[in-house]
Amino acid sequence: MSGGGPAVRRLSDWDREHLLSLADEFGSPLYVTDLRRVRENCHRLREAFPEAHVSYAVKAHAGRAVLETVREAGVDAECASAGEVERALDAGFPGERVRYTAVNPPDADLDHVVSRWESNPEMTVTVGAADTIDRLRERGFDGRLCLRANPGVGAGHHEKVTTGGHAKFGIPIDRVPDIAADARDEFDLVGVHAHAGSGISGDDLSAHRELVRRMGDLAREVGDLEFVDVGGGFGVPYREDEPPLDLDAVADATREALGEVDARLAIEPGRYVVADAGVLLSRVNTVKEAPETTVVGIDAGMTTLLRPAMYDAYHAISNLSRPDADPVSTIVAGPVCETSDVFADGRELPEPERGDCLALGNAGAYGYEMASTYNSRPRPPEVVLDADGPRLARRRETLDDVTALERTASEHIPN
Ligand code: LLP
Repeated sequence: MSGGGPAVRRLSDWDREHLLSLADEFGSPLYVTDLRRVRENCHRLREAFPEAHVSYAVKAHAGRAVLETVREAGVDAECASAGEVERALDAGFPGERVRYTAVNPPDADLDHVVSRWESNPEMTVTVGAADTIDRLRERGFDGRLCLRANPGVGAGHHEKVTTGGHAKFGIPIDRVPDIAADARDEFDLVGVHAHAGSGISGDDLSAHRELVRRMGDLAREVGDLEFVDVGGGFGVPYREDEPPLDLDAVADATREALGEVDARLAIEPGRYVVADAGVLLSRVNTVKEAPETTVVGIDAGMTTLLRPAMYDAYHAISNLSRPDADPVSTIVAGPVCETSDVFADGRELPEPERGDCLALGNAGAYGYEMASTYNSRPRPPEVVLDADGPRLARRRETLDDVTALERTASEHIPN
């Protein structure tokens, strides 16, 4: 297989003129997702892990065009909710390529997933509590089951995305063998699973290694499994000077830590597939001189891209309209009346003027997905790029959409 492309696509690699023309045509704020890069990232993962079963964590970007691209690139779907299962099936994933990972699943999710499983009996359900097994049994599920272990070790770019050791996730690893032995009688026990967290970095593979080592031990102890899934979390370089992850080194470390296991390795990255395939375009609406800085108000906010407000995440920013202007120190802020609605503080940018178009890099993962209508702000549209040119994949939400739920409240739908 080939077509992996470069190890990273930086914000500066995007075609500036093309992005400007998209902002002119579709307005701002605007998400732009390049499906060719999604494809390349899928191929890169499959090349680095040729022996592994690779799934895409749909939560990173659940848009239909992305899901279809991932499916065509031979990567399967890992879904975190009934809605994501629905989207994956809708995008043409056959049941055998869909896994549902239940995290404290609401009844409505289990009802829906089990009903979809009835017509897609090859779908796999991953559970992180014995309690969830009982609830699946009550619903007549006896299909492919995977047990999520809490490996007692976590990693991540921020404490809010460190998953592995948190009591919320998974069955304590030392209890998994007993629960597995019981589950075998009633279900088709196919795998064990764990996820350390989000943001495995090149500098520190130790938590990942330790998680994989523990999962290898677990798989050997449980025995007779189809796969051992060590989760996702492969990091991408958000900062301009950060080196890309050496995927081959991660793959080697994973294999070495897993050891000899009579089960197939499985991975389920999300961010890695879509992060550098997306940018967010936004226009400057206010330029305000403040003591020692210039406040640049843009039409995207924490409702458009939540990551900086929620995790202090860094996103590269460029001024597409004025790349050669003299740099000034800026605060780049959104229109939401919250102090955390700031994308960058102390960032040097070519001096922005009202109407300039800025681009925020690495917006493809957990960008649109975490957008909200807080402050009654409609969510932005998304344009996807492919060999046949740009295409509007999601329209802009309107104020009418935002108020629709109140106007139609009398159509109350019970859960
Ligand atoms: N598998 C499981 C079970 C997960 O919970 C996640 C992410 C993944 C795979 C994929 O992780 P990734 O490869 O994308 O790092 N909103 C945060 C990230 C939250 C991730 C939650 N779980 C962010 O914007 O950084």
